[in-house]
Amino acid sequence: LTSHYSLPSGDKIPSVALGVWQSGKGEVGNAVKTALKAGYRHIDGAWIYKNEAEVGKALKESVVPREELWLTSKLWNNFHAPEDIEPVLDQSLSMLGTDYLDLYLIHWPIAFKKKGNNILDEDLTEDPYPTWKKLEELVDKGKIRNIGISNFNIRRIQNLTANPLKHQPAVNQVELNFWNPQPELLKWSKENDLLLEAYSPLGSNKQVSETLAVPEVKHIACKLGITPAQVIISWHVQRGTIALPKSVTPSRIVENYKIFEMPQEDFEKLEKAATAHPPQRVVNPSKGWGLSFDVFDGQ
Ligand code: A2P
Repeated sequence: LTSHYSLPSGDKIPSVALGVWQSGKGEVGNAVKTALKAGYRHIDGAWIYKNEAEVGKALKESVVPREELWLTSKLWNNFHAPEDIEPVLDQSLSMLGTDYLDLYLIHWPIAFKKKGNNILDEDLTEDPYPTWKKLEELVDKGKIRNIGISNFNIRRIQNLTANPLKHQPAVNQVELNFWNPQPELLKWSKENDLLLEAYSPLGSNKQVSETLAVPEVKHIACKLGITPAQVIISWHVQRGTIALPKSVTPSRIVENYKIFEMPQEDFEKLEKAATAHPPQRVVNPSKGWGLSFDVFDGQ
């Protein structure tokens, strides 16, 4: 299985990352250190996870050369206005202890006003091009190597890429797991040369134990002599996506980094099992944010 994917910039992004969403204070630093020791070089974080300072401290203490690391962060919804982007990017850079990010994503295709509690900025939500143009500027300034999107459905991607972009989105980070494998989005993304990154690849905390107990997953694990989690993470990479498993447990962090190519027949069995049931999305903040629409438009 591939250890890296090539992006439009020519950069090579590692195919498995440590995800740090929901990794708590006092835990995330050790998780990062364990991961780097295990061989991970890709950390997937975000400003809103509120743990970038601890991640940065762990990176510093691990003394892995910066050029070996792949650091991703994400622009939160309140900062889509062009003038608000660079200051909040600078916060992430400073907390992470670096002067550039390898990848910076628009975290959600939803813009809120800077102040107030989740007040929708309709203009920047409907038209993210001003936000994107500012991100392109920050690429040209050297603060970001690659820019991408997260939680964008096809309609929203097309709405963005209909503009004369200087830098195409390098990736789209979305929920992908056994319960929500999104085969149509994956097919469309491949046809359009857009790499997908799988968040909640194991099914997120709620559904991980169910994922690992799926008969097909257990069967393949047994046959190949690997663990169910390794089967699932390998499946993601074999599908051609990046996997971002989160863990703060040292043994699991080590386990999740070892991926194996499975025989085509097993891969297809797993793909079939994953797409045989109606999709069940784990993460959808639309209601929680009080939106009058579904951020995924039902997809
Ligand atoms: P923990 O962080 O306590 O180790 P996802 O990446 O799909 O969101 O899943 C994250 C959840 O899965 C976390 O609750 C994490 O627990 C758990 N997890 C991560 N890796 C494994 C593993 N190899 N086996 C079992 N559970 C795991």
